[in-house]
Amino acid sequence: MTIKPDAKGMYAASSEVVAGAHVDATEYARRYQASVADPQAFWANEAQRIDWIKPFTKVKDTNFNTPDVSIKWFEDGTLNISANCIDRHMITRAQQTAIIWEPDDPNAPAQHITYTQLLEQTSRLANVLKAQGVKRGDRVVLYLPMIPEAAYAMLACARIGAIHSIVFAGFSPDALANRINDSDAKILITADFAPRGGKKTALKDNADKALLHCSDRVKCLVVKHTGDQISWVDGRDVDLRQEMAAAKPYCPYVEMGAEDPLFILYTSGSTGKPKGVVHSSGGYLVYAALTHQMTFDYHDGDIYWCTADVGWVTGHSYIIYGPLANGATTVMFEGVPTYPDAGRFWAVCEKHKVNQFYTAPTAIRSLMGLGSEWVEKYDLSSLKLLGTVGEPINPEAWNWYNTHVGKGRCPIVDTFWQTETGGHLITPLPGAMPTKPGSATLPFFGVKPVVLDASTAVVQEATEAEGVLCIADSWPGQMRTLWGDHDRFMEAYFSQYKGYYFTGDGCRRDGDGYYWITGRVDDVINVSGHRMGTAEVESALVAHEKVAEAAVVGYPHDIKGQGIYAYVTLMKGVEPSDALRKELEAFVRNEIGPIAKPDLLQWAPGLPKTRSGKIMRRILRKIAENDFAALGDTSTLADPSVVDELIANRMNKG
Ligand code: WTA
Repeated sequence: MTIKPDAKGMYAASSEVVAGAHVDATEYARRYQASVADPQAFWANEAQRIDWIKPFTKVKDTNFNTPDVSIKWFEDGTLNISANCIDRHMITRAQQTAIIWEPDDPNAPAQHITYTQLLEQTSRLANVLKAQGVKRGDRVVLYLPMIPEAAYAMLACARIGAIHSIVFAGFSPDALANRINDSDAKILITADFAPRGGKKTALKDNADKALLHCSDRVKCLVVKHTGDQISWVDGRDVDLRQEMAAAKPYCPYVEMGAEDPLFILYTSGSTGKPKGVVHSSGGYLVYAALTHQMTFDYHDGDIYWCTADVGWVTGHSYIIYGPLANGATTVMFEGVPTYPDAGRFWAVCEKHKVNQFYTAPTAIRSLMGLGSEWVEKYDLSSLKLLGTVGEPINPEAWNWYNTHVGKGRCPIVDTFWQTETGGHLITPLPGAMPTKPGSATLPFFGVKPVVLDASTAVVQEATEAEGVLCIADSWPGQMRTLWGDHDRFMEAYFSQYKGYYFTGDGCRRDGDGYYWITGRVDDVINVSGHRMGTAEVESALVAHEKVAEAAVVGYPHDIKGQGIYAYVTLMKGVEPSDALRKELEAFVRNEIGPIAKPDLLQWAPGLPKTRSGKIMRRILRKIAENDFAALGDTSTLADPSVVDELIANRMNKG
């Protein structure tokens, strides 16, 4: 059975959903219009949803023109993020559950952490940070499993004005060290082990390796989570739970400027090393909270679950900051969708009576492949809304999600956004617009998308259009700069299309004005919803002594969305072998992390290059996609015969 769309191919929410929603179609049109006609007035009003210590008098001061790109919102206001996510709820929600923590092991007890407990634990952790000498503006790196301490640590940093930078626990020691060094962090917070899917990642061991490459002054606070044996460096390592138990249970929050950075989050770009995306305090929180409430149609008392990891931006905005600013109950899940079996997501939905469920298309595709009987086993009647994020969702997966998980009752919000945007940019609001599978539909309040012709940069005025996606004006959740490199920030996002923020994505706008994201137009690929720079994987490969040259591209992958396809040219005299292939895969895992391991690795005696020596990636992409007919003009290549060689030896020809 598949739920069918209406005659226009659209899925409209039921009248019941529309009646109960914060925003219906008329209200969306009215508020969207107001938001773009007078952003100052619109956002001055929306910003009242959070508590300001000193109210702002200026709303928006933004400039997208190089070399003066500058983005400021609510600039002279002051606030504290931790107070907004915790303290202000104490009057009405002290005993309400803030976080439901669901451990990896399905037989271990879940924790229900009330706002009162959240305040105490966050305070204790903040006092430990203070005792370690952490001051306002200092950087603290988190390398943690999905455990409550991750939330406490984020909020503790915000409480004392420190800037957190979370490194996903799947990254390698090298990647961790680079991020500690780039942000010049004083403190690393980690755990002994990270259990996921019944396996344990040795986080502390990785941290030890990383810290060999960092300044001696970096302290390491360790959560003894699994309690397994770890090595210990006296004077550097601190037992975090022990110190928290001894610390004072209350820590006052500090008054921060709206534009003070809240966090740095490293993400992959098309070139060079990862970029340290910097988010602000005031604008970010207003935007995260508003989008969380509107997109998920969150109402008081709802149980909301976003399955992301706090190592990614989705975890920041939609597990922690948005939901907690709204006084929500947010589920934090340590495990994976397939452990102990493919019913885990649905078991957790049933167990905690989840109302809104937000995950990635890659998870949906992999569960779909394992059969709908895993879903049917559970009572999912609590679900009201489903969401997706991170990559385009194919109609097949959308239909499966709609039919088997949502039973045709739950609107699906396909949310398009980025690490850089802080929150949803283009997304359905469940009561306001009918959806089409695969389209993120219409822009959120205050967001002005424009479609530009990729080569001429001409703005496409017609409703039906195709090209690159830019945004014409700022919104409060937008990133402010790249850590320590404002020039790179301007270069990466504002130099290609003058006066616009360039998303890096291609897109199509259909006759109804709906947006369809067609994927990255730069050298960023999206593997299982994890963003990866092909240049990063290439530099990891060429760091191996037997590799002369490497080129990495994405190719369509049934489950992951995109897979990593690596072309490798070996040093003269080195023979290719399966053993060497395994060695290179392991090498990349070590340099970056398991998520960067190439799915297909092809030996390439030569790479297609122009006469000036530039690798023609377009051709490599087409070969990886098995689309040999569309190779285009190869006559400008220095040696066109390498193309035939590569085609003849393409991996897994099919
Ligand atoms: C892609 C994740 C299609 C896009 C929040 C973007 C999407 C990149 C969608 C950002 C969507 C994200 N439909 N594509 N709903 N959401 N993307 O920074 O290519 O990890 O540029 O942020 O993911 O990935 P990031």
